[in-house]
Amino acid sequence: MAGKLDQIGKSLPRVDAPAKVTGETQFLTDMTVDRMIFAYPVFSTIPFGRIRGIDLKKAQAVEGYIDSILGDQVPGDNQVGVIIEDQPLFATEIVRYVGDTISLVVAESPSAARKAASLVGVEYEVFTPILGIEESKSATDRFIHETNIACRHQTNKGDVVAGFNKSDIIIEADFETPYQEHYYLEPQGCIAIPEEDDRVTIYGSLQCPFYVRKAVAKCLGISYSKVRVIQAPTGGAFGGKEDVPSEICARTALAARTTGRPVKMVYRRRDDVQLTSKRHPFRMHYKVGVRRDGKLLAAEITLEENAGAYATLSTVVSYRATMQAMGPYVIPNIKVRSTAYYTNLPPAGAFRGFGSPQATFGHERMMDIIAARLNLDPVELRLKNVLRAGDTTLTGQRIDHSVGARETILKVREASQWDQRRKELTPGPRYLHGLGIAACHYGNCLGAAGWSLDGAAARIQILRDGSVTVAFGLVEMGQGALTVITQMTAETLGVSPERIVVLPTDSLNVPDSGPSVASRNVVMTGNAIREAARKLNPVLLSAAGELLECPPERITIKNDLVTDNANGNALQFPELAEHLFLSNRQMEMLGWWHVPRLSFDADKGQGEAYFTYSYAAHIAQVKVDTLTGLITVEKIWAAHDIGKAINPAGLEGQVEGGTTQGVGWAVTEHFRIEQGMVKTPNLSTYLLPTIMDVGEVETIIVEDPEPLGPWGAKGIGEPAIIPTAAAVANAVSDALGVPLNEIPLTPEKILSILNPAEPV
Ligand code: MOS
Repeated sequence: MAGKLDQIGKSLPRVDAPAKVTGETQFLTDMTVDRMIFAYPVFSTIPFGRIRGIDLKKAQAVEGYIDSILGDQVPGDNQVGVIIEDQPLFATEIVRYVGDTISLVVAESPSAARKAASLVGVEYEVFTPILGIEESKSATDRFIHETNIACRHQTNKGDVVAGFNKSDIIIEADFETPYQEHYYLEPQGCIAIPEEDDRVTIYGSLQCPFYVRKAVAKCLGISYSKVRVIQAPTGGAFGGKEDVPSEICARTALAARTTGRPVKMVYRRRDDVQLTSKRHPFRMHYKVGVRRDGKLLAAEITLEENAGAYATLSTVVSYRATMQAMGPYVIPNIKVRSTAYYTNLPPAGAFRGFGSPQATFGHERMMDIIAARLNLDPVELRLKNVLRAGDTTLTGQRIDHSVGARETILKVREASQWDQRRKELTPGPRYLHGLGIAACHYGNCLGAAGWSLDGAAARIQILRDGSVTVAFGLVEMGQGALTVITQMTAETLGVSPERIVVLPTDSLNVPDSGPSVASRNVVMTGNAIREAARKLNPVLLSAAGELLECPPERITIKNDLVTDNANGNALQFPELAEHLFLSNRQMEMLGWWHVPRLSFDADKGQGEAYFTYSYAAHIAQVKVDTLTGLITVEKIWAAHDIGKAINPAGLEGQVEGGTTQGVGWAVTEHFRIEQGMVKTPNLSTYLLPTIMDVGEVETIIVEDPEPLGPWGAKGIGEPAIIPTAAAVANAVSDALGVPLNEIPLTPEKILSILNPAEPV
């Protein structure tokens, strides 16, 4: 592998782009299967209560009605909780949110299924719902599960009391961040096909085929070997298709098993929004002690998360937010307490960043508040405290390499001309301008809490004609996985990208590779590809030695040419492939890579929380219209240390997409829910940012290589969104001269700050 890289670091055009832009790609929602019928859920219309009775009569009268599936028909466990077993597949007794599935109605057409589902009568004993963190916390006689606490995490480093005693100034502040709805363009959906011998095949729009396999097997009471999960082309996910497809696929599989026919279920948008998980709302209290020169000495942080009706991925969100709660800074004394509370609201779960955008909102608003108090430049304050190689993180983890935090801050300051721009941004008669920075770190992959799931596979097969297939256990969901996998495979084998086809993810093709989350793909699949190639290469070289009549050590395979370095004799890769076949050699190898063992004390929350970190710093420039309260994000400079950019254009795409999603969360999106009913169930009420709402995004790539990453690479998927909202809020606070400690920054909120006497 020594020498010049041929594929890594090049912006290979997206391999799946042509089929997507021509409409050739068949997404799950486009797919049909012979004899297919359709299912639709009957879900709770109240946030909390007991089911008294279910009346199917009206539903049964609908033309095309076939069957209704209920919880008492579940042959295995009526349970789909992904980490904590608190979530029934079908509610049989208690309903805990508007959206708990009670039954699945199956009919000959999607409209008949929806109509019949809407006619199922459910009688309830209504309980008073718990609709917020405060209520959940203080309830003494109302419990959503055995307790209202979904999970707790903590970290403790040094001596916080001593740290505060040494501090010149102690500052406290509260922050609040709201729900965010994923709004993947393609709603949730799957097709379940019953097969002989109790087997079932699932096609789904999903992130985690192995989670689905586990859930289907468990609920149907069959072995994993009887469940095949194939990921259909997936129109977006962002965490929203991490655990949610498990319940959707398991119910649909049961309907297929019961009726003996392939069953398709696709959620209507408004039901998708009501029924499925969202980003956790956070309440945060920060108390930070600093020296007069800006050095951070101590922090005591309380994080509270609204988990909704079921824990789903709350443990992951709470763990990650805790371990990253004070950001990429050196702090000798810190104590963080994080608690997720159950409420009678839709479950909050995985969403790009897993609690990091929320925690980053807390620590980065806090850094600006500290800077203002000390009259320090916000960039200088961050540089004074930022992690460098050899430092320890807030979990006491010493990090010796690939710590590009300082460089991202320096580079983003330089690119934005921060100092000069800050002086030049003067208020006009109607518009105010502001500039804000936010920095973050992001633990790659699943971390100490998820270590046992943190392995992944890639299977490389060379075919007789010299073409190559790659099967992998994670998925493509819009992020560009197929393209980087093509590049990494081409690089390791020394063949051209055109030879390579990356196969759709199929649970039959590869071992359980864990979930496609936590920005894992490049690191995990990349290392698995290198491992597969490490096994394949000796086979290739020995066969090539036979053909070129030389010792294998003299052979180089590069750009499809197989060369004897001593005399320049060469042949094309397909000739070698043909010889591999004719000489009966093993033409397929499985590569497996696992995150190294992490030393972590869960009781103290100290140790190696993650094996490595990506770093980022964003600077936002905003314009505030004092007449309308509207905020325009004029430009974002986004510097990311990702170790090594495998595909720089793809990386920029991730940064632009993530940044846009961050601007949405901070400014345009305003998720509203009343009595457990979502009031923003479509795109006319929930305003995703369009291209007109986000100014230019300038991506600055910092490459501080990670020794354990493939070619030095670390993850980018989530870091892309993490600092954006904090940078925007810092910029708007700068523009208004008023601290804005909660989002979204709606025009109403801005106007109420500008004109406190005039109610909007
Ligand atoms: Mo994502 S929150 O890593 O599914």
